[in-house]
Amino acid sequence: MERLQKYLARCGVASRRKAEEIISSGRVKVNGEVITEMGYKVSGNDTVEVDGEVLEIKDKIYLAMNKPRGIISSSNDEKGRKTVVSILPKEIQDYRVFPVGRLDYDTKGILLLTNDGEFMNTLVGPKSNLEKEYLVRVDGIASRDVTKKIAYGVDIGGYTTRRAFCEIVEVDNEHKSTLIRVIIREGKYHQIKRMFEAVGYPVKHLTRVRFGEITTEGLKEGEVRYLTPHEIKRLVAMSKESSKDVIIHKVDR
Ligand code: URA
Repeated sequence: MERLQKYLARCGVASRRKAEEIISSGRVKVNGEVITEMGYKVSGNDTVEVDGEVLEIKDKIYLAMNKPRGIISSSNDEKGRKTVVSILPKEIQDYRVFPVGRLDYDTKGILLLTNDGEFMNTLVGPKSNLEKEYLVRVDGIASRDVTKKIAYGVDIGGYTTRRAFCEIVEVDNEHKSTLIRVIIREGKYHQIKRMFEAVGYPVKHLTRVRFGEITTEGLKEGEVRYLTPHEIKRLVAMSKESSKDVIIHKVDR
């Protein structure tokens, strides 16, 4: 027997926290009866339905996508816009995957998808220390003062960001913009955009080039590939690394 929310997460419906919301909103039936009670226990002999669809425990899948700009990081969109799930091959959509965290509509780059709610929580939950690396094109010519501020932490509206790695990659004097590399170990809402907003350099283009050790290498925009068992293990291990104040593994290029 296991708790209903865990069962839902295991079937790839949503993360455990989201599954609780789904249960309390009355969308779940067990053996034909609506269940809103959180501690309710089910076994493999019970028939569990969400929104009228009978669930079955599916294999867990873990994917890396090179997300294009102009796509929403969610499973579905009320306005019918393209989502990271809707652009997946049909046979993968059947596994009810969801994105591991979010990239903004206008952000491109590496995004993981899975149907394993536990895995998602480990990687993007509040305790995770997984590194995320971004290339940020900002408006204006930024100096080392700016990257230092970003690296030491800035106030993004009631929250001071943790230590980060930040360096200037290239200055475009003609178009008055700067390309900056940032590596963070957290993931607040619109964090990168808000960090650069806080120092007066609005973001023009944002690309996530690395998530843990996973990059977009070998993936065209919109393409996905399966993560290897080793990559999955490393992602979990890196997420659980102790919270060190000083970042960050310098990337050799
Ligand atoms: N930070 C942002 O501001 N946007 C993203 O998409 C990712 C990180």
